[in-house]
Amino acid sequence: MFTGLKRLEYRGYDSSGMCIDAIDAPTPTGRRESASGDGLANGISADGTSSSNGRVEDRSSPIIVKCPGKIENLENLTAEYVQQHNLDTSKVYKHHVAISHTRWATHGVPSSINAHPQVSDANADFVVVHNGIITNYQALKDILKKNGETFVSETDTETIPKLLKFAYDSMTAEAGSGEAQVPFPKLVMEVLTKLEGAYALLIKSRHYPGELVACKRGSPMIVGIKEGPDGSSSSSSKVSSGGLGRAASITRLRDQYNDSHWTGALEAWVASDASAVIEHTKRVVVLEDNDVLHIVGGGYGIYNTRQADVETAVPRRLQVLQLEVDQIMKGGYEHYMQKEIHEQPEAITQSMRGRVKQQKSAEGNPYLQQRIKLGGLVETRDTIRRSRRIMFVACGTSYHAALAARQTVEEMVEVPVVLELASDLLDRCCPIFRDDTCVFVSQSGETADTLRALEYAKARGALCVGITNTVGSAISRATHCGIHQNAGYEIGVASTKAYTSQIICITMMALALAEDSISKRERRDAIIDELGALPDKMRSFMQVQDVAMKELAAQLKDSNSLLFFARGNNYATALEAALKCKEVALIHSEGILAGEMKHGPLALVDEHLPIVVVATRDSMYKKMESVIQQLLARSARLIILCTAGDATMQEYAKRSDCQLIEVPGTVEPLQPILNIVPLQLLAYHMTVLRGHNVDQPRNLAKSVTVTD
Ligand code: AGP
Repeated sequence: MFTGLKRLEYRGYDSSGMCIDAIDAPTPTGRRESASGDGLANGISADGTSSSNGRVEDRSSPIIVKCPGKIENLENLTAEYVQQHNLDTSKVYKHHVAISHTRWATHGVPSSINAHPQVSDANADFVVVHNGIITNYQALKDILKKNGETFVSETDTETIPKLLKFAYDSMTAEAGSGEAQVPFPKLVMEVLTKLEGAYALLIKSRHYPGELVACKRGSPMIVGIKEGPDGSSSSSSKVSSGGLGRAASITRLRDQYNDSHWTGALEAWVASDASAVIEHTKRVVVLEDNDVLHIVGGGYGIYNTRQADVETAVPRRLQVLQLEVDQIMKGGYEHYMQKEIHEQPEAITQSMRGRVKQQKSAEGNPYLQQRIKLGGLVETRDTIRRSRRIMFVACGTSYHAALAARQTVEEMVEVPVVLELASDLLDRCCPIFRDDTCVFVSQSGETADTLRALEYAKARGALCVGITNTVGSAISRATHCGIHQNAGYEIGVASTKAYTSQIICITMMALALAEDSISKRERRDAIIDELGALPDKMRSFMQVQDVAMKELAAQLKDSNSLLFFARGNNYATALEAALKCKEVALIHSEGILAGEMKHGPLALVDEHLPIVVVATRDSMYKKMESVIQQLLARSARLIILCTAGDATMQEYAKRSDCQLIEVPGTVEPLQPILNIVPLQLLAYHMTVLRGHNVDQPRNLAKSVTVTD
């Protein structure tokens, strides 16, 4: 569990917790409400700061350990707990359910009390971990308080175990017996009807020993399925259309202790993404919204609360992941961000693989030859071309990628292109029509704002296209068609290789949409030729710039502020470079459209404030030269990012003592892809020199699965 949590640390890492059973669950032949037996421990929570949250003295109650900070803290605290209580960690259990969580605080400060799991009461009858936000938690809390409940945490999550207990107590009281009459998933479904917002939940209960219920709406969740040690899970653990073994329906789950179905050989790993389960199994099922997964006695069933018959299991495809553990390790680099910057030549090659044909049609051949093949857009290509407008919707770096490629789409497709930040689109209730094409760009494919905007656009009848780096992500599943980035796993919170790969994907899309245009053939061919040359160009200066940017970082690391000036396609470069400096180096920085310089930002210029000016050889070059002159006239401290060997810029550098960052030239639509690389390296080195956490910058999470 700790390894799995560490893999998910990129999603949130301000506190963590776990819950394991203190005793073996009963064998399937016998059921008990509160078993005794050779306990793992006395079930005393190791909650670091509190004795009021989840106090458990009963041997059937689970052990809960929670603490603020990194997973390492949780590991150490658990080790202490094991030692103090003299636990036998070699003991093998017949049935065991454990849940754990790494948190990124949304409601309440990072602390042991607010960390998950959250429990229903002092006996930890119901234990829950939650990814997402329950938007109506305050109303639920008020109702529960009126019923005499008290809350110990500030979290929205705590309402869930309390609601479960409330529902369980009412239902069993109605049934008039101490036994759990209602099947676990059915109880959970009852509570889900009260929840608003987004969630991926793992729930265990001492009333349902050896069982786990997991459910999701709006937050990602997968289950990895592994055969147990005796390899005999086959008869009971199938989820594909063939059958669910004995978990065929909730009604049948009442028969769960029937020996004839028992194999006892299933390991199921439920997580927010595949990285956490990959070392156990590559066979996974991606859960869909409103799915409720029930794992019990060597089998599992998946139900969906939106089905007409919620008691009949739904078929979900078992997929085999191609991902290797290696792919998600640092691979010799100090940090993921560093690795991912250096991986970019390979990542963009992967994005183009099988899609870009380098061979041109023979000289003089009047027929157009298809050079860009995007399988995911074949059926919708004409609809996109006929759209009234193309709207790109994204957040953060993904938005910048759309900005960098906007002009190429406008030029190639000749349809008006607009860009929308997903949150702003939703805030404004932006008008969207049936004849719009909306393109949702998201590395993770799980960003809540982008996902909500997608639902909004879909409801208005727009054609929805997805560009994501995560196969099976919510956005890739909810869009009508799309392009997978294939850039490989990105773990560093600061997006780097996903950015350059997104620009490649949008550019390929523009080129594919203009495939039939004879007038654009020459231009299109020039861009496609350069696409082929791009990975090598990137490789050619990566090492040199790495050294140069480390030196520059040493000079700039103590700056209070940094400005990036650019225009045209490279306005995106300025915004993205500034975002990188903010989010990892924790230096205030701004990307400024150079055309706006004299409308305000010029007032900031003096001999102290470092300014990076992007002036590579493209249609904006002359204008940027004029910007440089104006800045130098005010004694600005300039760093000029220019095309390698540019004599004019070298002359400025000589005369005015400004520094140069030289990058290879390429065609204008692709220049931002090369230009951003040294600036990513600059942000990286400044972060290291300033001693900040590179891969997990404070207050940020990789996948922002909350909207407010
Ligand atoms: C990038 O460095 C940021 N961490 C952030 O802006 C990110 O790009 C944004 O949250 C969108 O994420 P997505 O691409 O996964 O949707």
